[in-house]
Amino acid sequence: MQTYKLVVVGGGGVGKSAITIQFIQFRAEIITTTIIIIIIIIGSIIIAVATPPCVSPFGDQVVRAQNQGVALDAAPSFLGMPIDSPRSYFVTDYDPTIEDSYTKQCNIDDVPAKLDILDTAGQEEFSAMREQYMRSGEGFLLVFALNDHSSFDEIPKFQRQILRVKDRDEFPMLMVGNKCDLKHQQQVSLEEAQNTSRNLMIPYIECSAKLRVNVDQAFHELVRIVRKF
Ligand code: GTP
Ligand code: MG
Repeated sequence: MQTYKLVVVGGGGVGKSAITIQFIQFRAEIITTTIIIIIIIIGSIIIAVATPPCVSPFGDQVVRAQNQGVALDAAPSFLGMPIDSPRSYFVTDYDPTIEDSYTKQCNIDDVPAKLDILDTAGQEEFSAMREQYMRSGEGFLLVFALNDHSSFDEIPKFQRQILRVKDRDEFPMLMVGNKCDLKHQQQVSLEEAQNTSRNLMIPYIECSAKLRVNVDQAFHELVRIVRKF
């Protein structure tokens, strides 16, 4: 299976970690939910079968209802995390990243791929680490926040730095405008982003980590770009 080293870069607080975690966790969430549902069903069956016949049929009904109540109450969460919503891995607190790496296997256009994803620091104080991860990356998501024009202004700087480190005129990259759910706070229009995308010759996609819009598409598209390169 082909491995792709993907790196998520961009300014501080634009949502790099939120996008990455949504992408990584989604399948795990479905699997976890399925396993828990199966455990609950089996548990309920065992409880129903193991409950001894009661002296009073009325008392038996009460016991069974309580047991089922416990099981059903436990269903919507696992270790304190909600598991029944596709948005459950959206982290609302801002915790600046230093560097986190993740692995995910998936099929992209029916071809299996192993993605090694590096979620990098946007905060300037960690910028000394950039050249090192840029050297190892095979594809880059250049993320900015649609409600933060200064993060958009930083995109050409990231592109220049990657091209310089790679010593190339072009390299697989995808520009990602995150937080498209915050329409009312938008500071970067679609037109402006598309103009920059044309000028820099980097394809562009808008997404929302919060609503899980275009999150898979962004990573899959980057893999397609790496494959074509
Ligand atoms: P650094 O690690 O410091 O570089 O930041 P980051 O780019 O990883 O940002 P992070 O994912 O930590 O998100 C920063 C803040 O933005 C958090 O409070 C998130 O909840 C919020 N956020 C991220 N993505 C979205 C989004 O799509 N919509 C909205 N409304 N908020 C978002
Ligand atoms: Mg982060």
